[in-house]
Amino acid sequence: ILICFLINTINAQESLLVVGVATDETDGYKRYVRSLKQNGLEYEILGLGEEWKGGDIKRQAGGGHKVNLLINSLEKYKNDENKVILFTDSYDVIVNDNSEKILSKFKEFSSKIVFGAEGFCWPDETLVDSYPVVADNEKRFLNSGGFIGYASDIYELITREPIKDEDDDQLFYTKMFLNIPTREKFNIRLDTKSEIFQNLNGAVQEVSIFADENGKIELFNNVTKTVPSVVHGNGAAKLDLNRLGNYLANSYSNNDGCVSCKEDTIQLNEEDKNQWPEVTLAIFIEQPTPFLREFFQKITKLNYPKNKISVLIHNNEKYHNLEVEKFFTNHESSSYASIKYLTVTDDSSEQEARRSAVEECLKSDCKFLFSVDSTVHFDNSDALKLLIEQNRSILAPVMKRPGGSWSNVWGAVSSQGFYKRSDDYFDIIDGNILNVWNLPYVSEAFLIKGEVLKKIPVEFNDETMDPTIKFFTTIRNNDFFMYGTNLHEFGHLINPDGFNTSKIRPELFEIFNNFEDWTKRYVHPEYNDYASGKVKPQVPCPDVYWFPIISDEFCEDLITMMEDFGQWSGGRNNKEDSRIPGGYENVPTVDIHMTQVGYQQHWLHFLRKFVQPMQQKIFIGYYSDPPRADLNFVVRYRPDEQDHLTPHHDASMYTMNIALNIPDVDFQGGGVRFVRYDCSVTQTIKGWAMIHPGRLTHYHEGLKVKGGTRYIMVSFIDP
Ligand code: UGA
Repeated sequence: ILICFLINTINAQESLLVVGVATDETDGYKRYVRSLKQNGLEYEILGLGEEWKGGDIKRQAGGGHKVNLLINSLEKYKNDENKVILFTDSYDVIVNDNSEKILSKFKEFSSKIVFGAEGFCWPDETLVDSYPVVADNEKRFLNSGGFIGYASDIYELITREPIKDEDDDQLFYTKMFLNIPTREKFNIRLDTKSEIFQNLNGAVQEVSIFADENGKIELFNNVTKTVPSVVHGNGAAKLDLNRLGNYLANSYSNNDGCVSCKEDTIQLNEEDKNQWPEVTLAIFIEQPTPFLREFFQKITKLNYPKNKISVLIHNNEKYHNLEVEKFFTNHESSSYASIKYLTVTDDSSEQEARRSAVEECLKSDCKFLFSVDSTVHFDNSDALKLLIEQNRSILAPVMKRPGGSWSNVWGAVSSQGFYKRSDDYFDIIDGNILNVWNLPYVSEAFLIKGEVLKKIPVEFNDETMDPTIKFFTTIRNNDFFMYGTNLHEFGHLINPDGFNTSKIRPELFEIFNNFEDWTKRYVHPEYNDYASGKVKPQVPCPDVYWFPIISDEFCEDLITMMEDFGQWSGGRNNKEDSRIPGGYENVPTVDIHMTQVGYQQHWLHFLRKFVQPMQQKIFIGYYSDPPRADLNFVVRYRPDEQDHLTPHHDASMYTMNIALNIPDVDFQGGGVRFVRYDCSVTQTIKGWAMIHPGRLTHYHEGLKVKGGTRYIMVSFIDP
């Protein structure tokens, strides 16, 4: 009992002090200190504000400066046998446990000083054989990025021999460990199973994360089955630590969701927009991009005082000149603080343009540079405000191409610097886990603080890399973190692949690649009310169903496309028709088929997505998927050409007939008459479809057009 009592008293007196070195308050340093605070750890940071004399340790050996700083700071504790020092690097370390846990693990080693271990014998590989052998699943070699021991012992150990600031600290400690008398005197041990120290370099595949019963995220070493307390992204594992740091140290908790995302944020006052920070908004149109008109509309609608925004646009595509000019001449644009336009004729490359944007921002002492590519659609008009309020050095709104796996963020990066899919990539882009994510690369849209731009060499030029990848690689090498937030829905990305601007109305063809944007532009705004059953289709004649389906713009673009193509068939003067399977049309119209303008597949997709759901509501019990239609065509009626169509049946199960323009405005007369019911529809509505059975009951005729030109779009479905 007495012995137990004594041990307990000694334990009670022991205290843990974390000591880290950081000459600069980098983002990594801030993360480290946050992790110490989250775990209630007492700590001392050495070297803040001093010049780093430990050499370029990213590339070569060095780091002796750390030892000398430690010697100075430990002097005051050199006789303190109860002070336990946990010494760690700081830029690439996260501590995930409190002092109680760490001390109890340390005690289990029954050692005076315990060093972390790793799988590489570095910096002197010739020392491999001098190391004691360990079990296959353990790490054999000393790493100096983390160790723990009694202050008095550590002080005695590290003052035995001098070390120069530029000498290598890892080699310094290694030699002491490999010197058997020293090792035995201090009972130095290596944490070969990562009980306390997890060095990630070469071991990333060996770890995973899990949530404990309180929702706390822990690191698990799958090989040694340990739950380490100190996680070190040594050497090449910096980005892996960044990824794990999204969860560790209560950044994220299974019970509370993201915790760090709520820290250090600011609020912009809606009542006093004069106080909102100045932003340089740089827009890059580097490739032909569909739906640019909508892009600009959304930019204009951003909830941000325009007099606080200076705009710079780089347009690399002649095709888009008109749209960009429209944005300039738009009366709302005059409210921006300034607008600068780098056009195609200025001949500035993407690299130069991106550099100019940074320079503009720095020149005007802007608080933020908001870089936005033409593929970025801010459906949320608060996007810019929300990003600023998150208050991070570099922050991207996480956005994706709808329905796909393409986004503007990378979860990981390969050793060659290319895209690599991280385990949590889909959690990030699909919003399954909400967080402000530390990421290796962001693009297309990001907000960066002016103060960061001042601190880094701005570099976009590199023949081997995309300019933004180059830019962010430089930023990363300068110890800044970049984040992506999926806390809000900001909008979506456009897929510009294969956008063919040689077409007269190229967006019409985007039904596959940009379905949602296509739908917004081209489907009738009231269509959903009918498709959802909220509104019933009209029935102007027996079994003739009438409902809105395509937008005015679709009607107009379709007419433009056909007129531009111009090869109208001969109508009633020419019943031979090589375009149709039989080569002969009994009741021919003046028309152009979708196949002739390369739109057949697009139209069939449209039928499947928008017509079939309506058909199933109308002709209940009839099901065909996908709807088939060989003949889809635009018909032109006019007095001097073909002005009517004699009664006929259609070669279809059902026919769809969409009016593309307006009676009494664009043409006089016209319409359709169903002979059996003696029922006519003459006041057709632009963008509305009429659906009726084709083959038997609905014998019908096209009524005479007396003036102007009438256009309709016809499909014979399931012939
Ligand atoms: C790796 C090891 O993990 C280090 O323990 C060892 O000191 C180093 O190699 C070496 O032997 O040269 P690494 O993780 O690759 O270090 O490098 P950093 O994390 O970039 O630097 C180590 C630490 O030195 C930083 O975490 C920070 O605590 C300190 N440091 C470095 C500064 O305070 N200022 C600097 O400018 C650079």
